[in-house]
Amino acid sequence: MKKINIAIVGLGTIGSYFYNFISKNKDAISKKTNVIPNIIYVCARNPKKKRLFKIPKKKWAKKYTDIVKDKNVDVVVELIGGSDGAAKDLVIKALLNKKHVVTANKALIAKHGDKLSKIAEEKKVNLEYEAAVCGGVPIIRSIKEGLIANKIQKVYGIFNGTSNYILSSMDQNKLQFKNVLIKAQRLGYAENNPESDLNGEDVASKVQILSSLSFNSFINKNIHIEGIKNIDMDDISNADKLGYKIKLLGFSELINNKIYQRVHPTLINKSSYIASINGVLNAVIVNGLPVGKSVIQGEGAGPSATTSALISDVSSILRGNIKYPFVISNKKRKKLHSGNISKLSFSAYVRLDVKDKHGVLSNITKTFSRFKVSIKRLIQNPAKSKKNSSIVIITHRALDLNLQKTLKILSKKNYMIKKPKLIRIENN
Ligand code: HSE
Repeated sequence: MKKINIAIVGLGTIGSYFYNFISKNKDAISKKTNVIPNIIYVCARNPKKKRLFKIPKKKWAKKYTDIVKDKNVDVVVELIGGSDGAAKDLVIKALLNKKHVVTANKALIAKHGDKLSKIAEEKKVNLEYEAAVCGGVPIIRSIKEGLIANKIQKVYGIFNGTSNYILSSMDQNKLQFKNVLIKAQRLGYAENNPESDLNGEDVASKVQILSSLSFNSFINKNIHIEGIKNIDMDDISNADKLGYKIKLLGFSELINNKIYQRVHPTLINKSSYIASINGVLNAVIVNGLPVGKSVIQGEGAGPSATTSALISDVSSILRGNIKYPFVISNKKRKKLHSGNISKLSFSAYVRLDVKDKHGVLSNITKTFSRFKVSIKRLIQNPAKSKKNSSIVIITHRALDLNLQKTLKILSKKNYMIKKPKLIRIENN
């Protein structure tokens, strides 16, 4: 049977799991692909680090720059991470040297995917990145192959396991943000630097990649990003009382031929499908024609789920065929204009923590009215001991620009004791 030589660069949580999986499942993979996946080299920043398994000495490469030049290497698996630096250098050099590349690096693909796919196309090699978006959920291959017939209008969902794990644990177990994050890190869900899981950047990269695949366009950098750091237990319990759950959602949609990309915490109806997606699970919803609404869910982070996606990419290469990294040739991808979130309309949850004194409520409602934001529900929760109050307002649909203007004016009022909060509501 034919053999294909694979070099793995980066042996952290994911790299180690992946190495072990291939070593133990060589036969099963070759039965399905008719090619034997052979790990010829591994390379890591710290080869001396204690690992749970032994890697034969001859497999250790000193530098990745040696790997990319080695004529015996067919596939390079990049598991270093980061949008630039060594990861970018490795992938560019590997592609230029006509090696197929598999990467789990969403930041790299979101930032440099256009350039990398151009090189891959020129050199007639594959650039595969299933593991970069939603871990074990095979959304990239679904869009590229299973849903190829469709004109996609919208793709959205839960794209970050860590933040979903945190929000659902806060909700279900009444646990504090900090403690849940530590557990997510221990389970290998969070990025090395969990900042990008919490500030929405990780979701943003995935949204940009999905947009590009869905709309056959170049990667669009215009995206509205908010993370989950400001969500506290009071918001979660307010949402619960009002019949909602809070999720960090990513959205990309095509409206009048413009791409609208956004990432933000979102209130969604408790009875909706997305509200039932808890823990590390991700869910991607694709609206397309002729398929209609297509949903795919699964574990979005962690070494086992990510390895499932990496093996899918490696197997695709083992089976042969050179494919365009973004479905169609770079020559045919379009540069679409983007629209700003301020032009969209939402109903919203607004939380105002204020001094409890006369005239405050009337001033608040006047400000809403000034910007044509109509109030649908209003709840006032007075603080037990202090003379403060937390006012929660659900608005009717209003232009996002007007919601923002309302909050900006309110944030300057001397009766505000905290920065006002706005969480958009999605009615799906
Ligand atoms: N840190 C990411 C997450 C891993 O929590 O979803 C997969 O990108």
